[in-house]
Amino acid sequence: MHLPLPKISDIKHKTVLVRVDFNVPLHEDGSVADAQRIQSALETISFLREHEAKIILLTHLGRPDGKYVEKYSLKGVANYLRQHLKLPTHFVHDCIGDEVRQITQSLAFGEIALLENLRFHPEEEANDVRFAKAIVADADAEVFINEAFSASHRAHASIVGLPSLLPHFAGFSLATEVTMMNKILDKVTRPLVVVLGGAKIDDKVQAVANLSKLADIVLVGGGLANTFLKASGIEVHQSFMGKDEAKNVKLAKAILDEHHTERTIIQTNDDRNGLPLPKIVLPVDVIAAKNSEVTQAEAATMPLLKDVKDSSDDLPLQYLDIGPRTTTLFAYLLSTAKTIFWNGPMGVFENEPFAKGSRKIAKTIARLSAEKQVISICGGGETSAIINGAGLYNRLTHVSTGGGATLEFLGGEKLPGIEVLLS
Ligand code: 3PG
Repeated sequence: MHLPLPKISDIKHKTVLVRVDFNVPLHEDGSVADAQRIQSALETISFLREHEAKIILLTHLGRPDGKYVEKYSLKGVANYLRQHLKLPTHFVHDCIGDEVRQITQSLAFGEIALLENLRFHPEEEANDVRFAKAIVADADAEVFINEAFSASHRAHASIVGLPSLLPHFAGFSLATEVTMMNKILDKVTRPLVVVLGGAKIDDKVQAVANLSKLADIVLVGGGLANTFLKASGIEVHQSFMGKDEAKNVKLAKAILDEHHTERTIIQTNDDRNGLPLPKIVLPVDVIAAKNSEVTQAEAATMPLLKDVKDSSDDLPLQYLDIGPRTTTLFAYLLSTAKTIFWNGPMGVFENEPFAKGSRKIAKTIARLSAEKQVISICGGGETSAIINGAGLYNRLTHVSTGGGATLEFLGGEKLPGIEVLLS
């Protein structure tokens, strides 16, 4: 796969639309809490500045459903670019319209305009070609660069519409991500153990199906595990189930049934006969509480037993982290891997009582990378925030910006945003 990279002559003194993925975690005051995705776009931005392009940055943030939502504004991201990165950045309060025309016309070469959240317009997710044309016309754009690997699985106007209107190129970070993923897919060093979690359940159940074909073991934790636990007949009380619960549980059941008879045999030093396990491994215990805001003292470890109704049936319980036995089991299974891929937290890691499972997985993977040269790839905004937060960023083989995008790519699906760059 040869992605087109921009040469100096392609961008010098031109107005360049750069689709970045600055969908980053924010603090309550709107300031940036984790800048990993911003950092990953800096090589492309510096290249464009050095060669005197006018740089128009486009991104989504969160899921505002096609309307203005203050907490998803990019103002805080613009401040970060100006104050922390010292980049000459103008913030534009919309991504189309008069203000875009005024600011982009007066932009000096090497300067940056960051446009407001694309998803404040429903036309973005609907991939409306008139919307894409308006962005190009208002910014008077001449070139398009996709530097948003992590959003390239979305067939949205800014991802697939813009490159069909303009000469288009891959950003440097996107190209590195694709090269890295292809390396893994070309020759998997086995056993490959995949850890999946997080709360984007509607996207991820299918990812479990796809990755179960590639991986030797799939460990499922976090919000995603609730769907699989329910599908396997385990009580989940009021735990988070995503939007499309019935459809997801049905699919999860089909996936569990498909892999029901498979047994993964892993040779270990202390177990010559191997370890018989189902390919998809679910939590055996959880940390449960009435909601994720409670204190440590109000959260309890709860074993998960099939077909056993526990005495807490009537309580409004939610499963908010994997429990200590699950953490030990997952850490042990990870220690049998030669390649590890991790996406998605094991619990509501933002709140301390439910952060232990994710932190332990991060530390285990970092240790295995260092001590046993295990190839470790982690992906996704929250997953990299956990890794960053634990100071482990440089200890892994590759930390991808992509969550859903990485899952789809490794699951063998074609990403629309990458395909269009090849056309
Ligand atoms: C991500 O965080 O995975 C990307 O920014 C895509 O966001 P989305 O899942 O809301 O499309």
